[in-house]
Amino acid sequence: MSSLSMKFMLFTSAVAAVLALFPIAAVGAGLKVGFYSKSCPSAENLVQQAVAAAFKNNTGVAAGLIRLHFHDCFVKGCDGSVLIDSTANNTAEKDAPPNKPSLRGFEVIDAAKKAIEAKCPKTVSCADILAFAARDSIALAGNVTYKVPAGRRDGRISTNTSALNNLPSPLSTASELVGNFTLKNLTAEDMVILSGAHTIGVSRCSSFTNRLYGFSNTSQVDPTISSAYAFLLKSICPANSSQFFPTTTTDMDIITPTVLDNKYYVGLTNNLGLFTSDQALLTNSTLKASVDEFIKSEKRWKSKFVKSMVKMGDIEVLTGTQGEIRLSCRVINKGSTGLEINNGPDSGEFTEIATT
Ligand code: HEM
Ligand SMILES: *[C@@H]1O[C@H](CO)[C@@H](O)[C@H](O)[C@H]1NC(C)=O
Ligand SMILES: *[C@@H]1O[C@H](CO)[C@@H](O)[C@H](O)[C@H]1NC(C)=O
Ligand SMILES: *[C@@H]1O[C@H](CO)[C@@H](O)[C@H](O)[C@H]1NC(C)=O
Ligand SMILES: *[C@@H]1O[C@H](CO)[C@@H](O)[C@H](O)[C@H]1NC(C)=O
Ligand SMILES: *[C@@H]1O[C@H](CO)[C@@H](O)[C@H](O)[C@H]1NC(C)=O
Ligand SMILES: *[C@@H]1O[C@H](CO)[C@@H](O)[C@H](O)[C@H]1NC(C)=O
Ligand SMILES: *[C@@H]1O[C@H](CO)[C@@H](O)[C@H](O)[C@H]1NC(C)=O
Ligand SMILES: *[C@@H]1O[C@H](CO)[C@@H](O)[C@H](O)[C@H]1NC(C)=O
Ligand SMILES: *[C@@H]1O[C@H](CO)[C@@H](O)[C@H](O)[C@H]1NC(C)=O
Repeated sequence: MSSLSMKFMLFTSAVAAVLALFPIAAVGAGLKVGFYSKSCPSAENLVQQAVAAAFKNNTGVAAGLIRLHFHDCFVKGCDGSVLIDSTANNTAEKDAPPNKPSLRGFEVIDAAKKAIEAKCPKTVSCADILAFAARDSIALAGNVTYKVPAGRRDGRISTNTSALNNLPSPLSTASELVGNFTLKNLTAEDMVILSGAHTIGVSRCSSFTNRLYGFSNTSQVDPTISSAYAFLLKSICPANSSQFFPTTTTDMDIITPTVLDNKYYVGLTNNLGLFTSDQALLTNSTLKASVDEFIKSEKRWKSKFVKSMVKMGDIEVLTGTQGEIRLSCRVINKGSTGLEINNGPDSGEFTEIATT
């Protein structure tokens, strides 16, 4: 036996000893900036290119991708489960009422995944692609960027019920919203900060007509919404029209609808908030203090926003050998049933531990 192979054997047994001391999942636990720098150095660029191309065609994809990441993270953690298509036997998250038909941007993730698979097969998770895409969307719409810790693995389970049970409703009160975010280990301040994402994007009528018609069982308009704004919204969304025109949308921040800035908060204090849940930020003095802070300093909101996005991106992530690296973001890998989770490399197609 050559001394080289001897050294190799000593080395591998040392590695085995270390691995025995620290189970692989624990070694891999925790996300890391630059996770793909060795295994797929072009990954983040390829995502950025896909997002930039889509944004050039339709700036609305930025809002769509940021919300997709939020809806991924709040339902079974940031595991790409929101991207999975329904099958004959399973109605997926994306087809639950809070998501359908409003979620958008799936084709951008598909394009990024396709480009990445061509360069580095079976290496980059859909959950990470989505986290990168949300960051790139924020950069394009808001001229602010941040580093995204990565190393998420993809989940194999996606159900309409978990989407319904975990996504906050636009009819929520302040204490409900705080409670919903606390369940995800996010603070009341994170909730106010992240709600600022409503500075871009659109909404369907059904998410806010509660404030326009039959408010509190009267025929009145919610008194906290500007009457001029309510008049405009009623013209866009006539009474009982949601069911006939379910795809009619309106901008959520009427001051600067496509720019990621602090005008969402400015709108709130001018009675231009759209949802009951937006208006709710003014009903509690602690939350309102944050709103006022962000009106005073857009810079402060942006720096806090990107930090809260990173925090949100860390919710219940799968790492190490948990889950899998999905080959198509819409379909769990062959050989995995979708009924198990966190059960190691044997049921996934990808067993290599990526650079950590
Ligand atoms: C605080 C609780 C929240 C509630 C109740 C809520 C609710 C909603 C609703 C109802 C819509 C419109 C859907 C439709 O009818 O078309 C929407 C859109 C949107 N939400 Fe939220 N949201 C919340 C928090 C967040 C967070 C944390 C983010 C991201 C960080 C976010 C980002 C967005 C974006 C970007 C849109 C526009 C999507 C598009 O134009 O495609 N929201 N949200
Ligand atoms: C461009 O955006 C429109 C919607 O605004 C969409 O229907 C179309 O598919 C997009 N085209 C490309 C190439 O992404
Ligand atoms: C759906 O379930 C049936 C019965 O359990 C099974 O035979 C079939 O293969 C399943 N189809 C899919 C697409 O998983
Ligand atoms: C983008 O931000 C940079 C620095 O944060 C600033 O110098 C630049 O003027 C901004 N660009 C626009 C278009 O706002
Ligand atoms: C989920 O989808 C199933 C059909 O697969 C349906 O029967 C059920 O009502 C849906 N549940 C929710 C909460 O949307
Ligand atoms: C949000 O909080 C309210 C009040 O605690 C609760 O009834 C509701 O089920 C929660 N929703 C979610 C999605 O966590
Ligand atoms: C919240 O934090 C606790 C304690 O660290 C952890 O056990 C729990 O899994 C976390 N929950 C979420 C949704 O991240
Ligand atoms: C509206 O009326 C229903 C049924 O009478 C009641 O359950 C509900 O609490 C009322 N809502 C408000 C806001 O008063
Ligand atoms: C909307 O429909 C409800 C019952 O579905 C009805 O009571 C109400 O009068 C309708 N509102 C208008 C403005 O037509
Ligand atoms: C406002 O919200 C904060 C944060 O959730 C909470 O601690 C406080 O009790 C609330 N204040 C009131 C008056 O409801």
